[in-house]
Amino acid sequence: MKITKICCIGAGYVGGPTMAVIAQKCPHIQVTVVDLNEQRITDWNDPDIDNIPIYEPGLSEIVAEARGRNLFFSTEVEKAIDEAQVIFISVNTPTKTYGKGKGMAADLKYIELCARQIAKVAKQNKIVVEKSTLPVRTAEAIKSILDNTGNGVQFQILSNPEFLAEGTAVTDLLNPDRILIGGDTTSEGEEAIKALVDVYANWVDKEKILTTNVWSSELSKLTANAFLAQRISSINAMSELCEKTGADVNEVARAIGMDSRIGPKFLKASVGFGGSCFQKDILNLVYIAKSYGLNEVADYWEQVIIMNDHQKKRFSSKIVQTLYNTVADKKITFLGWAFKKDTNDTRESAAIYVADDLINEQAKIAVYDPKVSGNKIQSDLNYLETRSIEENKDRVVTFDNAYEACKDAHAIAVLTEWDEFATYDWQRIYDSMHKPAFLFDGRNILDAEKLESIGFIYNGIGS
Ligand code: NAD
Ligand code: UDX
Repeated sequence: MKITKICCIGAGYVGGPTMAVIAQKCPHIQVTVVDLNEQRITDWNDPDIDNIPIYEPGLSEIVAEARGRNLFFSTEVEKAIDEAQVIFISVNTPTKTYGKGKGMAADLKYIELCARQIAKVAKQNKIVVEKSTLPVRTAEAIKSILDNTGNGVQFQILSNPEFLAEGTAVTDLLNPDRILIGGDTTSEGEEAIKALVDVYANWVDKEKILTTNVWSSELSKLTANAFLAQRISSINAMSELCEKTGADVNEVARAIGMDSRIGPKFLKASVGFGGSCFQKDILNLVYIAKSYGLNEVADYWEQVIIMNDHQKKRFSSKIVQTLYNTVADKKITFLGWAFKKDTNDTRESAAIYVADDLINEQAKIAVYDPKVSGNKIQSDLNYLETRSIEENKDRVVTFDNAYEACKDAHAIAVLTEWDEFATYDWQRIYDSMHKPAFLFDGRNILDAEKLESIGFIYNGIGS
């Protein structure tokens, strides 16, 4: 089967960039990205390309090239499903906030809605692709809904998890380490796998396109995120030990990373990992293990989250302790709010939790982030429901200039590793602050020696 029409349900951080790259690389395929969220679709269609809803380096150029040619953003979900041969499901799968599995399991209500809508609309055979990250064996549930509520047409379900990281989404999509496609081992399943392989083969080497059974593919995605997050929690655990022993975590990371079995990547000690994926996916893994009675497996992976929460708390406690055990009404400036550099995404950002702790200690927080708005920062804090909206407004002020944000502060905390922070005139910042001027580098990106020579009392992670 030759694919000429693709629909993607969900125009978010995965659906938007992924489909933009498919459209750019496959001009012969019409790609329509649909979403229930009208504002999001309006933003994707904004004539001013700088206003598209997701900031990723290189993304606006790709959207500008393909949009209106073979890339379309629309709210007409049913029309797009009806026309497409392949439907990617790329909707959110957040942690459940209610009922059985609350706080652990993935909430699959949006996935089920998609399956029901596809079943209702489809009049011809279709390939349905799980792009969202899903619990292992979700394809079974999707198939059951499609087969039992559909119009008698045939569906093939493929699992094709996405491994892009935010901030590098475009390069990750253009040069993926691998593409993973899981499908049924029947001849129809194999035909569907081949059709999707052929789409990716337009720009990805065939050797990098891995095909497996559906369950392996679904579980590989959760496993990859668990292993990646585990590395961060492992190095963060060592960072605390470094602080007690005089070892330097950056030196330890370098030393172990040169072992080719360990490798140098993903060993940066930090204030803790954030983002919409790691915590959600590990909690989901823990829940799945528990549901099979595998308590040791569940406890093992849960430690990754426990360590991460500890690291965030440890960072805020260190600020309070260092500032003579009180931050009440002291101005503390956050440089960065996004969960990592080069994204405007703040989901599960460590900054939110560190700010919350410090506000509990009655600190005044000033925030500067190059890509995150003041409204977003307020809504992130309000979402925690720790205190009233008015109190958050009173305690947290956002600046669009780092120098203004740092003026009269007692301490600066670096929460995101934005490159521009290293280029600042730190003497000027120091001169504008209360003394002693403290700097807590939650990302170990600044030059400690230089800052200390200016007069800062510098605290990195793990040194
Ligand atoms: P997102 O919240 O940015 O986007 C999801 C979109 O789906 C939203 O715009 C929402 O309105 C839309 N949606 C939900 N239900 C819908 C429905 N029934 N019909 C039409 N639209 C609907 O989420 P995301 O970050 O793009 O993540 C999507 C999935 O991809 C999740 O399962 C996530 O775990 C996975 N994933 C995310 C990343 C990442 O870096 N963000 C990376 C790999 C995998
Ligand atoms: C992650 C996975 O990397 C990606 O493959 C998957 O598809 C989605 O989840 P993402 O969350 O976008 O991607 O970013 P990532 O680069 O993994 O960073 C996650 C968090 O870990 C960030 O807060 C980052 O700052 C932190 N991190 C990362 C560290 O603290 N140290 C590191 O060495 C690496």
